[in-house]
Amino acid sequence: MTPILQLDDVRKHYSVRSGLSRRAVSVRAVDGVSLQLERGETLGLVGESGCGKSTLARTLVLLEKPDSGEIRFDGRPVAFTDRAALRRDAQIVFQDPYTSLPPHMKVRRIIAEPLLIHRMAAGAELRDRVEALIADVGLPASVADKLPGQLSGGQRQRVSIARALALEPSLLIADESVSALDVSVQAQILNLLNSLRERHGLTLLFVSHDIGVVTYVSQRIAVMYLGKIVELGPTADVYGRPLHPYTRALMAAVPSVERRGRERIEVRGDPPDPKHPPPGCAFHPRCPIAQDICRVEAPAVREWLPGRHAACHFALGPETDGRNNG
Ligand SMILES: Nc1ncnc2c1ncn2[C@@H]1O[C@H](COP(=O)(O)OP(=O)(O)OP(=O)(O)O)[C@@H](O)[C@H]1O
Ligand SMILES: [Mg+2]
Repeated sequence: MTPILQLDDVRKHYSVRSGLSRRAVSVRAVDGVSLQLERGETLGLVGESGCGKSTLARTLVLLEKPDSGEIRFDGRPVAFTDRAALRRDAQIVFQDPYTSLPPHMKVRRIIAEPLLIHRMAAGAELRDRVEALIADVGLPASVADKLPGQLSGGQRQRVSIARALALEPSLLIADESVSALDVSVQAQILNLLNSLRERHGLTLLFVSHDIGVVTYVSQRIAVMYLGKIVELGPTADVYGRPLHPYTRALMAAVPSVERRGRERIEVRGDPPDPKHPPPGCAFHPRCPIAQDICRVEAPAVREWLPGRHAACHFALGPETDGRNNG
């Protein structure tokens, strides 16, 4: 089956001023990302703050114009200049339900707005659709006449999701959309997203810095470091045997019953300055298994095991240098 979304070598760099000289330098927020989303799956995108997750999410729905690369939606190449191309098919739900909902608008109107803008419903039909959407995200009908400020964080997030679903997108992107919520409410929203995916045949791209949350909802995960995907594979496989030392480091920060007592690797130090990335593999200054080659040669993404991709010279261990096993 054709993937719903295919990215090929997509780049988005920002020019920013740096240092006392205010010299213009480039931040490689998204630096050559290739990725496929299969119809109906949840792909989790994880990595530390600043690694480029939101830029990638915004770029792939053309909220940001990519610098280069190719994006195909449903097999068709998307013109980067055609912002409207994906406006209905792909929707983003953002993190903060406080700031992302207009405070003076009733819930009924907030959810109706995309339908009005796209002239998809009016009158009684509009009212019915809004009420169905409210029920669909598990909210009581009474929220329709409330303002966002009268709702809890979890309820507001459900309103954001209902608004995103109004245009019947085939792809929903949730960018840190549970990070601001209490743990028990997070679980409810994650379960809601999963049931919406099943009921509506949605494809979900789930973005979070928390690999624990990501593994809970995703069939596959993509791990991002400094603008690049460094590991990609089925969640159970990545969890059982992570190929990239950065994935291992992220996982070590999440306590779990099964992994108690196993070796723990901490991510040493802070992420590198994206304005001045290290030479070679960008992870090498923090990597517990770095060798000489890692300081000079950036590892390409390779399929080391069926369906398992990683950008590490030593993905299968120190004895298997990537150059000798191609
Ligand atoms: N509009 C912009 N102009 C300049 N630099 C930007 C812009 N947007 C993002 N960046 C930079 O691009 C890099 C990636 O940022 P991005 O917000 O995509 O990361 P993120 O992984 O979503 O982080 P977080 O987990 O904090 O949300 C960062 O270095 C950020 O400072
Ligand atoms: Mg972000």
